[in-house]
Amino acid sequence: MAKALDGVRILDFTHVQSGPTCTQLLAWFGADVIKVERAGAGDITREQLRDIPDVDSLYFTMLNHNKRSITLDTKSKNGKAVLEKLVRHCDVLVENFAPGALDRMGFTWERIQQLNPKMIVASIKGFGPGPYEDCKVYENVAQCAGGAASTTGFDDGPPLVTGAQIGDSGTGLHLALGIVCALYQRKSSGRGQRVQAAMQDGVLNLCRVKLRDQQRLARTKVMKEYPQYPKGKFGSAVPRAGNASGGGQPGWIIKCKGWETDPNAYLYFITQAPVWKEICNVIGKPEWITDPDYATPGARLPRLMEIFGAVEKWTMTKTKFEAMDEFNQHDIPCGPILSMEELAAEPSLRATGTIVEVDHPTRGKYLSVGNPIKLSDSPTEVRSSPLLGEHTDEVLAELGLSATEIEALRAENVI
Ligand code: COA
Repeated sequence: MAKALDGVRILDFTHVQSGPTCTQLLAWFGADVIKVERAGAGDITREQLRDIPDVDSLYFTMLNHNKRSITLDTKSKNGKAVLEKLVRHCDVLVENFAPGALDRMGFTWERIQQLNPKMIVASIKGFGPGPYEDCKVYENVAQCAGGAASTTGFDDGPPLVTGAQIGDSGTGLHLALGIVCALYQRKSSGRGQRVQAAMQDGVLNLCRVKLRDQQRLARTKVMKEYPQYPKGKFGSAVPRAGNASGGGQPGWIIKCKGWETDPNAYLYFITQAPVWKEICNVIGKPEWITDPDYATPGARLPRLMEIFGAVEKWTMTKTKFEAMDEFNQHDIPCGPILSMEELAAEPSLRATGTIVEVDHPTRGKYLSVGNPIKLSDSPTEVRSSPLLGEHTDEVLAELGLSATEIEALRAENVI
């Protein structure tokens, strides 16, 4: 079946995590992604966190499915000549080098436009224009600078980073959307444009509700759904909210049967107002349905921890799955804390292709996260990541280079 991005050629200068997640998505939707790497070394993640000697790491394989890899020294004279051909050949250049690296290579926006006015140049940087624009950035720096760390964790502890890679993979997603929009606009404008996504901006976008709370706090000096209320003090900045929900329906993580030995025997529970009556009946507190101290969402706010405690007393007699089943019979929103071990074995995620088993030529079979975005007319088939330089000859031939020219580049260590 045809793919949504069939015919789109991506010149992929991405490395580590943020950029590769973007180009992997584009590859899953059918784009021809040509990953350019340095001969001999390649993307640094190929060798990071290896679990099998001399075999591309899971870090690399899980971020670079469905791409082609070519090696090219883009700083050499003949390498630059090949890169010029690639710029003419492709629709989009995606990069997440440290600030200024592409310019230092000689490929400024102006130069790229001269070579190919239709080319879209998409970049991820740590920061947008401003005091930190020249800084190198990794995931957790972005989480800290984008507002996630200051609002994550418990009130009496330090800022915390989250396991979700919102700085890297989150910004990759933002960039992918920008690229698809630029491709769409090119249909009418006939020209390329620059697409920029800063990791700080991406994280802040995902922390939008916390900027909402900052303004609420400034106005009202208190946030009644936060665990600091009613006993604790609020300062001038949004505090860490523990496991409080980010929305208008208060929630918390509560223990389930087995929590003493199983670190994931917990459930996220939401006291959703429309099902308050059902909650009270399930946990054996029918008197709370009409008690004015508990009957309305406003009355419950100063008593949330007491309420979660009562719910927990009930959930501690059930496994997280039993509790989930029973609450769901009454449309009470909640969710089990699932470990990576449980997710990897979950049959429904395998059935939808969200967890896939992939066969790699030197690693053998391994699990990966497939495409989380499902298009009915553009199904995703997850293929192995490329070996370093696996497609160099093939791509150079497509650019019109003869076998002799390719051999000459190899002899010069350009490829
Ligand atoms: N041939 C020749 N040189 C190449 C090359 C190739 N095929 N590919 C890369 N290089 C060069 C670059 O031109 C650059 O050279 P320069 O510094 O002399 O200009 C050099 O390799 C290193 O690139 P750089 O991006 O600086 O890598 P780094 O390992 O020092 O930094 C990051 C890594 C991630 C910190 C940095 O790239 C960065 O901040 N990126 C933007 C934010 C980002 O995406 N961060 C998240 C990563 S998950």
